[in-house]
Amino acid sequence: LAAEIDNETSPEKLLSPVLSAFWDEEKPWTLETYRRHEGYEGLRKALAMAPDDLIAYVKDAGLRGRGGAGFPTGMKWQFIPQGDGKPHYLVVNADESEPGTCKDIPLLFANPHSLIEGIVIACYAIRSSHAFIYLRGEVVPVLRRLHEAVREAYAAGYLGKNVLGSGLDLELTVHAGAGAYICGEETALLDSLEGRRGQPRLRPPFPAVAGLYACPTVVNNVESIASVPAILNRGKDWFKSMGSEKSPGFTLYSLSGHVTNPGQYEAPLGITLRQLLDMSGGMRAGHRLKFWTPGGSSTPMFTDEHLDVPLDYEGVGAAGSMLGTKALQCFDETTCVVRAVTRWTEFYAHESCGKCTPCREGTYWLVQLLRDIEAGKGSMGDLDKLNDIADNINGKSFCALGDGAASPIFSSLKYFRAEYEQHITGRGCPFDPAKSTLWA
Ligand code: NAI
Ligand code: SF4
Repeated sequence: LAAEIDNETSPEKLLSPVLSAFWDEEKPWTLETYRRHEGYEGLRKALAMAPDDLIAYVKDAGLRGRGGAGFPTGMKWQFIPQGDGKPHYLVVNADESEPGTCKDIPLLFANPHSLIEGIVIACYAIRSSHAFIYLRGEVVPVLRRLHEAVREAYAAGYLGKNVLGSGLDLELTVHAGAGAYICGEETALLDSLEGRRGQPRLRPPFPAVAGLYACPTVVNNVESIASVPAILNRGKDWFKSMGSEKSPGFTLYSLSGHVTNPGQYEAPLGITLRQLLDMSGGMRAGHRLKFWTPGGSSTPMFTDEHLDVPLDYEGVGAAGSMLGTKALQCFDETTCVVRAVTRWTEFYAHESCGKCTPCREGTYWLVQLLRDIEAGKGSMGDLDKLNDIADNINGKSFCALGDGAASPIFSSLKYFRAEYEQHITGRGCPFDPAKSTLWA
């Protein structure tokens, strides 16, 4: 069957977008539209395979987690112990909150059935009979649309008892969170889903061993799971023909900031920001790129010197940052970098869950120093203090939020130390806020 799938590759399919292929059609979110675009065909192929072969197939395709860390999806599924007598769970992380990241929520709004189909395939593979979608609570229209899509899927026999006659029984629960950034961290998410205050758990054990209700659990990002049906339907070789050897496939980039046409852009991994800007209309007229983030504010920032860095895990890593969520926030020369970093740091201080001291105290002190510098009340010694506090957060915090908070401090000091110094010697911000559209 695997060979049969691979033979179905055609050049037309290779060039077409997948996840965003029909977002512009009327009512793209309905089951009817989804079925017109190969909907639930991947599931039929998956159900004809043995679960272990299916896991091996997804692993061979090389799909890497799209939530930020890039962990191989098939390998995560393979970690679920079999024959252990415990229930297994799939939990989809739809708590998208990383500043600048806006791809999972639009994907759910426009094409919820791609996620539901991926969920059924994943549950069949890991032998799970109950899946959960943990959605960011603020996005009520998406919640309603998701509920409607789940109803449609139950009515069509893709969920519930004996899915498509395969013997798989599957319940799907949609759960709305309460809007805490930390609940996107997978173990905090599980605590929140269990009804507790969302705070990270010690890992190991990883969720694959002891996750939801202490049972083996796969936690996957929305885009990762929504990418699975196309891999099954069109074949792993088709998927691997895009992107690079270690980062294969297509993905959704979120482009925002001082660009002409912000939005979601689907492209193979490894595309560069220069190419994406060329495709999308570039920076706003009359302005040039000053700095940008490859994967949201938690990833070290880049400058205009990094326009040709391949946007895949290896390329961005080699250039000193991380691909993260592929949230490309672009800032032009009217933006004060100190102000941008202050705003991000205020966000991390507000969202710090308070469980560990380096992050809880450190983010508070970073904000105080940054506000002073921005207001022209800083001293040169404050720059060393910023670096020192960030150093005491980075790698010494309980979860990745702490590292994320330290990252813009390090990278902005690396590329724009002179701009910090200008605030200190000039006793204030040299930028005219009226000229920037972002900080009004
Ligand atoms: P991680 O690298 O610690 O883990 C990645 C995944 O692999 C997890 O699901 C983990 O359970 C699994 N894993 C790792 N080692 C394992 C092992 N030995 N056995 C079994 N499973 C294992 O990364 P983490 O902390 O889960 O996520 C950090 C990333 O999240 C950052 O790179 C950041 O870009 C991203 N992020 C995304 C946000 C969003 O809104 N999508 C928000 C904030 C951060
Ligand atoms: Fe909580 Fe921050 Fe510590 Fe993470 S790093 S556990 S968010 S205090």
